Amino acid sequence: MAHEDNRPAEKAGVAAGEKLMNAIVQDEYGDAGQVLRLERIPRPEIGDDEVLVRVRAAGVDRGVWHLTAGLPYPVRLAFGLRAPRTRVRGLDVAGIVEAVGGKVTWPRPGDEVFGIGQGTFAEYARCRADKLAPKPQRLSFEQAAAVPVSGLTALQGLRDHARVQPGQKLLIIGASGGVGTFAVQIAKALGAEVTGVCSTAKVDVVRSLGADRVVDYTREGIADAGRRYDAVLDIGGNTPLGTIRRVLTPRGTLVIVGGETDGRWLGGLDRQLRALALSPFVGQKLGGFLSSENNRDLTVLTEFIESGQVTPEIDRTYPLTEVPAAIRHMTDGRARGKVVIAVAD
Ligand SMILES: NC(=O)c1ccc[n+]([C@@H]2O[C@H](COP(=O)([O-])OP(=O)(O)OC[C@H]3O[C@@H](n4cnc5c(N)ncnc54)[C@H](OP(=O)(O)O)[C@@H]3O)[C@@H](O)[C@H]2O)c1
Repeated sequence: MAHEDNRPAEKAGVAAGEKLMNAIVQDEYGDAGQVLRLERIPRPEIGDDEVLVRVRAAGVDRGVWHLTAGLPYPVRLAFGLRAPRTRVRGLDVAGIVEAVGGKVTWPRPGDEVFGIGQGTFAEYARCRADKLAPKPQRLSFEQAAAVPVSGLTALQGLRDHARVQPGQKLLIIGASGGVGTFAVQIAKALGAEVTGVCSTAKVDVVRSLGADRVVDYTREGIADAGRRYDAVLDIGGNTPLGTIRRVLTPRGTLVIVGGETDGRWLGGLDRQLRALALSPFVGQKLGGFLSSENNRDLTVLTEFIESGQVTPEIDRTYPLTEVPAAIRHMTDGRARGKVVIAVAD
């Protein structure tokens, strides 16, 4: 998923009179606990089609970890070979518009927004106007910041790639994580019969989100019960393709969202590549996708949220100073749903 652009890093020096902010910065790739630190740096400058958002909360997602670690290695081709070109991490944002570029007709200063920005682990972040939408009124800033990357991925995976229809049987592997907790709720809203897969400690949360059945992968394989599914949304665990194909109907659809491995070169992408290569030769449709960051789909998510069909599942909120601990909580697999950074008002 291409989240950040390739502009030069934020200026290192501070000019007289320049407004400063607290931000979590990074000058080399590595473990979050070692390479991320709090620093006072100049507020970002915005372009004509950009918005400066006063960050109230920022979401933590796997993409943030990939960029912090510079793994898998192809990430570095896009974001900087030896060090990340942009110093501040963070993608998901919810906050209040501070200033807008000359070509921006919406939003206006003072508006409450959520969406995807660049360097949101900071007091102010630069965002493209077309990646922001009005913050759902029903949500706090912390809840809204949990939505963008994971919610867009879940929505697009189910609606555009799995093409889930009412009454269809759907298996969601990785139902308890950032993407999965949105996927369960959106799939129910789309009328699917949902089976979620997760570990023992998270069975209750997946059931509480509306899953019709939950498979605890520590006790049972996905094929053990002999059920067949019209679609499988595979978000975690790297289940072998052959196993997934056995639980799909003969013309069923597999959509691979992700799955973490220790592979430093492909990081789990190999399964998606093999699925794409195999798909033309079998009756089942097999593939993966990269989510797209756009405010049309943020608005679709807002409709699900305002109608009460989707509510972000937040496991823990951390202050800006504890971003490394927040990232570790997610990568250790302890989070039920999302981890969020609250930025002091
Ligand atoms: N394609 C895209 O555009 C896109 C966008 C966003 C994310 N992603 C990728 O999607 C993946 C998931 O992201 P996320 O934010 O949801 O991560 P996450 O919050 O860490 O969730 C991971 C999920 O995988 C489950 N899992 C772990 N081991 C498993 C196993 N052996 N069998 C079945 N399930 C298992 C976890 O369940 P337990 O915690 O219960 O063990 C959890 O539900 C990542 O690889 C991320 O990079 C892709």
